[in-house]
Amino acid sequence: MKIRLFRSIALSLVLLSGYWQGHAQIVPFPYEIKKEVTGDSAMVVSAHPLATKTGLEILRKGGNAVDAAIAVQFALAVVYPQAGNIGGGGFMIYRGSDGTTAALDFREKAPAAATETMYQDSLGNVIQAKSRLGIFAAGVPGTVDGMWEAHKKYGSLPWGELVTPAIELANKGFQITEREAKQLNAERFTFVRQCSIMPAFVKMEDWVAGDWLIQKELGMTLGRIAGYGRDGFYTGAMAGLITNEMKKRGGLISSADLSNYHSVWREPLIFRYKDAEIISMPMPSSGGVLLRQMLGMIASYPIASYGFHSAAAVHLMAEAERRAYADRAVHMGDPDFWDVPVQQLTDSAYLAGRMANFRPDSATASAGVQAGKFKESDETTHFSIVDAMGNAVSVTTTLNDSYGSRVVVAGAGFILNNEMDDFSAKPGAPNLYGAVGGKANAVAPMKRPLSSMTPTIVVRNGKPWLVVGTPGGTKIPTSVFQVMVNVLDFGMPLTDAVQTGRFHHQWSPDKIFMEDGALPEDTISRLQAMGHILEGCDPIGRVEAIIRLENGRWQGVADSRGDDAADGY
Ligand code: DON
Repeated sequence: MKIRLFRSIALSLVLLSGYWQGHAQIVPFPYEIKKEVTGDSAMVVSAHPLATKTGLEILRKGGNAVDAAIAVQFALAVVYPQAGNIGGGGFMIYRGSDGTTAALDFREKAPAAATETMYQDSLGNVIQAKSRLGIFAAGVPGTVDGMWEAHKKYGSLPWGELVTPAIELANKGFQITEREAKQLNAERFTFVRQCSIMPAFVKMEDWVAGDWLIQKELGMTLGRIAGYGRDGFYTGAMAGLITNEMKKRGGLISSADLSNYHSVWREPLIFRYKDAEIISMPMPSSGGVLLRQMLGMIASYPIASYGFHSAAAVHLMAEAERRAYADRAVHMGDPDFWDVPVQQLTDSAYLAGRMANFRPDSATASAGVQAGKFKESDETTHFSIVDAMGNAVSVTTTLNDSYGSRVVVAGAGFILNNEMDDFSAKPGAPNLYGAVGGKANAVAPMKRPLSSMTPTIVVRNGKPWLVVGTPGGTKIPTSVFQVMVNVLDFGMPLTDAVQTGRFHHQWSPDKIFMEDGALPEDTISRLQAMGHILEGCDPIGRVEAIIRLENGRWQGVADSRGDDAADGY
């Protein structure tokens, strides 16, 4: 990809706003999409204006942040089908106004019939398509159980009220944006190949902006969930529709897999960086540990004095990213199956030791594991919410790839994930995001695949200060890391911190990936002189963030890389 280069390395608001506008070229239709909003009481930022609106309505009628999160999750399953889901999974970080914290793991699980070599042929070669497309790629969905558990613990409004807006959106339909139309058109034939009946996402002629997407079957499924809670999805008629689809198309998920699925409350990963307390996701997401490692590795360097996006700052951050991701490949996996040495990995002496061979003027070569090609897209989604009571919720949720496995369960209208690809199909074999792994993340029955999702809440002076997260596969932790450094070290306003260009290093492949125009020309040539290989890439992440301003008001910022929208009051 051609890399457009900036002429100056100087950070200026002019440059930043120019970059930002560059990403806002696709005019969304037909909604008002607010990218930056301030409010006194409550705020929602999500990937779709209708989901943001749904969450805000719940908050306005007295629901808390968890109520709003549940309503947003179900609304996204309708209006943002490439990633919003009931057939996938995710993670939630919660911080209550009383200071309590919680981490909910509703990640998909491998079916009981899964085996370590299920994505290899008889010669041991990885068959990539098997873990990426079609029903064999699906893990047991976790979203509905996750929302049910979150509601049991923290919900204040009746469950049915939180699902109803999504039912209405599915039954009445909604007008799609230009971006959505393009994505659906691009996937038409994949859906046709993978589905046993024609799903609502396919029509003969091209979708155009403003077309109505009506999803009656999904409306019925959501109706069952509204009426029967988690059982309306994991047992009875709905389980029958899912297992029928499995039988028809050779999938592994059984009715026992469904009824046995349970999300898990885990201890959030909590650590300090400067004067901030950071609450993030523990295993089976690598996100929180990677974030802690990267921040820990740069903590003793005066990065602010290097200058934003200077060669010295990017070099330091990329070297920290490289070292953290090398650990990810070997040590990280589902903690219920693998003893992840979190204590050692996040120990400050260990992190200082990792940087012992850091040289300020030269790149450290990554030890060579054959790497796969990167893939950038919008398949996961994040939303951030604060309520008028002072509770904060940060949720990242996914089908993995765009529209997951592309299998729409016949009669149920929802898309199944392809999360099984997040496992390491074979030691050293790259997944969709080029990430490699080994034993720690090998496939096993009922195991959860290692994730990179990093829903995070930052507390300052005893109050929630920043709620943040993003999609982006393995680029998620580095995106959250950069937003954090932008606000905490470079003192940037949140809008600039989110909308500015991003870069990414993940140890293997040994390259710095950068968004088009993200880094100044001078920085690029200095990094090259240090021995870094730089490569342009598609937009990185879609950060949805909320910050408490100095005057105490909330500011919501939605990433300009998509149709993402903020709103509050
Ligand atoms: O759990 C993970 O890390 C991935 N399945 C997330 C996928 C993702 O972010 C795709 N979005 N670009």
